[in-house]
Amino acid sequence: MKASRSALRFVLSACLVLPLAAVKAQTAAAVAPQYLGVADPALDARVEPLLRTMTLDEKVGQLVVYSTGQPTGPGTGRTDYEDMIAKGQIGALFNTTDARDANKYQRIAVEKSRLHIPILFGLDVIHGLRTEFPIPLGLASTWDTEIVEKAARVAARESSAIGVRWTFSPMVDISRDARWGRMAESAGEDPFLGSAIAAAYVRGYQGSRLDAHDSIAACVKHYVGYGAAEGGRDYNSTEISEHTLRQFYLPPFRAAIDAGSATLMSAFNSLNGIPTSANPFTLKQILRKEWGFRGIADSDWTSVGELIAHGIANDGATAARKAILAGVDMDMVSSLYHDHLARLVQNGQVPESEIDESVRRVLRVKFALGLFEHPYADETKEAAAMLRPEHIQLAREAAERSFVLLKNSAGPRGAPLLPLSQSVGIVAVIGPLASDTTNMLGSWSAQGKPEDVISLQSALTAKIGKENVLYGKGSGITDGSDQEIEDAVATARKADVLILALGENAYEMTGEGSSRAKLGLPGRQQELLEKIVATGKPVVLILFSGRPLTLPWAFEHVPAVMAAWFPGIQAGPALVSTLFGESNPSGRLVVSWPRSVGQEPLYYNALNTGRPPGTTDLTRPPDRNSKYMSRYIDEQNTPQFPFGYGLSYTTLRYGPTTTSIRQLNASDLNAALHDGQHKVLTVSAQVTNTGTRAAEETVQLYIGLRGTSTAQPVRALKGFQKITLAAGETKNVSFTLTPEALAIWNDQNQYAVEAAQVKLWISPDSAQGTPAELEIVP
Ligand code: BGC
Repeated sequence: MKASRSALRFVLSACLVLPLAAVKAQTAAAVAPQYLGVADPALDARVEPLLRTMTLDEKVGQLVVYSTGQPTGPGTGRTDYEDMIAKGQIGALFNTTDARDANKYQRIAVEKSRLHIPILFGLDVIHGLRTEFPIPLGLASTWDTEIVEKAARVAARESSAIGVRWTFSPMVDISRDARWGRMAESAGEDPFLGSAIAAAYVRGYQGSRLDAHDSIAACVKHYVGYGAAEGGRDYNSTEISEHTLRQFYLPPFRAAIDAGSATLMSAFNSLNGIPTSANPFTLKQILRKEWGFRGIADSDWTSVGELIAHGIANDGATAARKAILAGVDMDMVSSLYHDHLARLVQNGQVPESEIDESVRRVLRVKFALGLFEHPYADETKEAAAMLRPEHIQLAREAAERSFVLLKNSAGPRGAPLLPLSQSVGIVAVIGPLASDTTNMLGSWSAQGKPEDVISLQSALTAKIGKENVLYGKGSGITDGSDQEIEDAVATARKADVLILALGENAYEMTGEGSSRAKLGLPGRQQELLEKIVATGKPVVLILFSGRPLTLPWAFEHVPAVMAAWFPGIQAGPALVSTLFGESNPSGRLVVSWPRSVGQEPLYYNALNTGRPPGTTDLTRPPDRNSKYMSRYIDEQNTPQFPFGYGLSYTTLRYGPTTTSIRQLNASDLNAALHDGQHKVLTVSAQVTNTGTRAAEETVQLYIGLRGTSTAQPVRALKGFQKITLAAGETKNVSFTLTPEALAIWNDQNQYAVEAAQVKLWISPDSAQGTPAELEIVP
């Protein structure tokens, strides 16, 4: 925890007009590249003459994307890429493996194709290339945009060294449903936090100049609503009202684009009956017209071809026509643009001007990246770019800061069990993930290698010595025998403290195509947990997962529980420094942690309903007054742990929230609404570290509005700051708000401030705090 971080203030304005100004204030040195967001005459001056020399087939070629590697869906069966590149039939390739591989294809494009237009090489670099950082859900749990930006910069340096100048990241889908496996790739459920993190990734990948040799183009995805898949089942349909779309789902996309994201990926899901890879409302009206996006809109893997399965096209030609006319510039893997676009133009079904616009966007990005000047990666520098000591150090810091301490109750000496003392005695580390070096990398681990990972067991051994560490596998992740469990229990009996490493399989149970209907521990791990706890020894449970798991038994019976997500290559050292208190946990939940699967989708920024329950205390039978309320008869409404929650090794006290002003005027606020500099209000609270250790605290600001034309969330995050507090120290924490913090999407689908009663909470999470109140008059 560096002192500089206490100065790290992140007071963004609100959802949609998210906050280039605030972002700049946070990182004054980094100027977001503007050439893709606004007209850049210098770039256009290079694009236009080239476009004029292109044949129709060559234009179509620039809109075609293929994969040379690992498929994540049905493929085309094509392998004749070299031939196609020579004919100018491919604009971008992804999944090349190293600089040599990329250069091999690039040489054909640059030397053999008629117009020498370089290929754009892409890859899913989601949380690091070789230096694997925590999965995005873990990175977001740091609530630290600075560390996210730095991690993305490291990923850009390593990726560009292998010739990859385009990453399919950040994924900014709002994720309210833990059944959805791709929650692991997200920044969670909140649009404000998600926007801040989205912008940080883009700044990190693209750097201050996109044409720097170590910058890569971001691709914000999956546009849009993909995370709202019904039932949490991947690829499923979504129904999202325009109001909810604009207020919750779109803001992180807008933030990424305002930060300069060069590209965007359309999604798989249908949105209100129209598939998002052929949706003119989202792709043309919102993205191009309202936001002025001038970068590339790429399809997702075969999402153009999937228009047939969706049922809005009966053949490939119709699918290609619908996608291009809706605004999808590039076709990833379907091959339908390659097969049909030229003929569609010749038949008059697609105007050539549509193709030209898409080609312009592709060429603009290629020029902006400097690919025409520097098409090749330097093969001699590739190895040295990977796993540099500073990259590994950052991976460790990011992992430490991503852990969320969920519970820490009394250990044998009456004090909280964690942190462990240096003279802890014999520690048994038990569970299928205790010595793991594969799952720690997380899903979408690009070129992460198990041999780069330090496991929990080896880091613990390095810390307290082999003689003090016992190990028992206990079970597999999804399987296990009675004997394995018995052996682990016998091992546990010999130890003073037990560390259980349980959770999911990162590849099969989290990420794409990995939705779960059950959110408990898989296999026999729950049984293992209960038998280990029955030994009566103090137990620390470390959960490795890509989502919150429903473990009511564990939260009742295990004294200390920490969510570690999948921490990346420095998993072991980061965990051990946290367990022993050299690092004080500072991660906070970015998703509401459910008690039962039946609560999903579960999110804190929900509406109040017409029948909010006074109590959902299930120990009391519902009386007449509480039965007909919005509640479950067999589960509480509240989450196990709320959004924003996380413990540390100290205790904190929050004073009441105060405001600089008690009344505001809606018409004044509307006049100033789109001026990100306009400060209207200061909100403050005193925060005291009442414990005996220094701490980093994530101070959160929430707003609730009543009396507006559309129902608003009971609370919505509008600011956060990371502060450091020495033991006993008190700080006055202030947030300065602009009108955006008070603006909503109203009943006319307009973004405006309305007359309202306002509550403001400065609090440690989304469920605590004493609010201040103010009024917005018409
Ligand atoms: C995923 C995308 C990914 C693409 C390319 C798709 O299956 O949905 O997130 O970027 O494949 O690998």
